[in-house]
Amino acid sequence: MAEGRAKKLGGNVTTVVISGTGVFTPEQSISNEELVVSFNQYVENFNADNKAAIDAGEVEALAPSSTEFIAKASGIEARFVMDKAGILDPDIMTPRLRQRSDDEPSILAEMAVDAAKKAMAEAGKKAGDIDAVLVACSNLERPYPAIAVEVQDLLGIEGFGFDLNVACSSATFAIQTAYDMVRSGSVKCVLIVDPEICSGHLNFRDRDSHFIFGDVCTAIIVENAETCTRKGAWELLGTRLLTKFSNNIRNNFGFLNRATPEGIGEPDKLFVQEGRKVFKEVVPMVSEMILTHLADLGLDPKDLKRMWLHQANKSMNDFIGKKVLGRVPAPEEQPNILQTYANTSSAGSIIAFSQYSDDLKPGDLALICSFGAGYSAGNVIVRRRA
Ligand code: COA
Repeated sequence: MAEGRAKKLGGNVTTVVISGTGVFTPEQSISNEELVVSFNQYVENFNADNKAAIDAGEVEALAPSSTEFIAKASGIEARFVMDKAGILDPDIMTPRLRQRSDDEPSILAEMAVDAAKKAMAEAGKKAGDIDAVLVACSNLERPYPAIAVEVQDLLGIEGFGFDLNVACSSATFAIQTAYDMVRSGSVKCVLIVDPEICSGHLNFRDRDSHFIFGDVCTAIIVENAETCTRKGAWELLGTRLLTKFSNNIRNNFGFLNRATPEGIGEPDKLFVQEGRKVFKEVVPMVSEMILTHLADLGLDPKDLKRMWLHQANKSMNDFIGKKVLGRVPAPEEQPNILQTYANTSSAGSIIAFSQYSDDLKPGDLALICSFGAGYSAGNVIVRRRA
């Protein structure tokens, strides 16, 4: 709508492009089989340790997990992680990551720098070309100083940086933020990074969700088309964001936990969700948002050559794809990466975009779409340039 107003007033509309993406993938991966063996060992240990209380009806016995359920309910087959050993040890079941000294790069910043260098190489950008750094992710390693300022320092970028968090939609919200900043003229080029150590907030002892998440980091370069040297960059045609409050995906971890110490370590200080409700409420919300956004831009959903959707659940993506296109999308029209990466929160749709976009032709129309906790959802509509 902002474009429309500017045109009516005879003003110039700045063309903004995504000119590069990068993905940092951890070296270690856990298959469903490995995860289920560890979970079921934990269940067996728990039930043996609590046998008397279980027999007396005072404690409920835990039920085992199964690879068949995980693959069928989610489409996930494996996940990359920053520490496989700690997660798979039935006595630990969390990643164990050494606390770094204040003089070392933080772990999120290190992942971010790796992904950022790949995105900068693809876009042909040096540190001096970038004016701002946004770290957009679900979980920040510390409150301050902002991780973005550290990434900025490690890469030798001048200007400014800040962190933002809208859970699974952090990356698309950051793309709109960068798009608006470049259009306003306050900056020419923005680096966005999405470091996600989702294994840090996943409760590996929770049967309903222990398989859901993986770790990764993605990076995106958003810049004014006038400075873009990359062939085949992606023109941003429009972005749209939506939030609607819901407790169905929630995590109560926070700086006030020490003020109620009796709650520290309780399951609500990790990821908790009502998966069925999320599915039922988010699918229509997102389908409607995509269709309305395309209509408002005068675009026909049938012209979409590709949809890089949020990577939480294969059935969710199948439903949304079918609703948007009005038919079952071919696999290449809606590529999933969740089978190997699992849900990587804000990074998921960006991994899919980064890995499944090279074959699109100049003029092709496509969509990046995220959705998740909040609820939050974000659309980014792009057209490939020559
Ligand atoms: N192994 C075996 N069985 C399991 C299991 C496991 N790990 N976890 C649950 N089950 C069982 C349940 O006990 C239940 O059994 P019942 O029917 O006998 O009661 C059955 O499987 C169905 O459980 P349910 O939790 O309803 O599964 P689901 O089909 O809804 O799938 C999710 C679960 C999480 C995969 C799915 O709801 C989902 O992906 N939702 C959206 C998630 C999402 O997008 N989240 C966003 C996070 S950012």
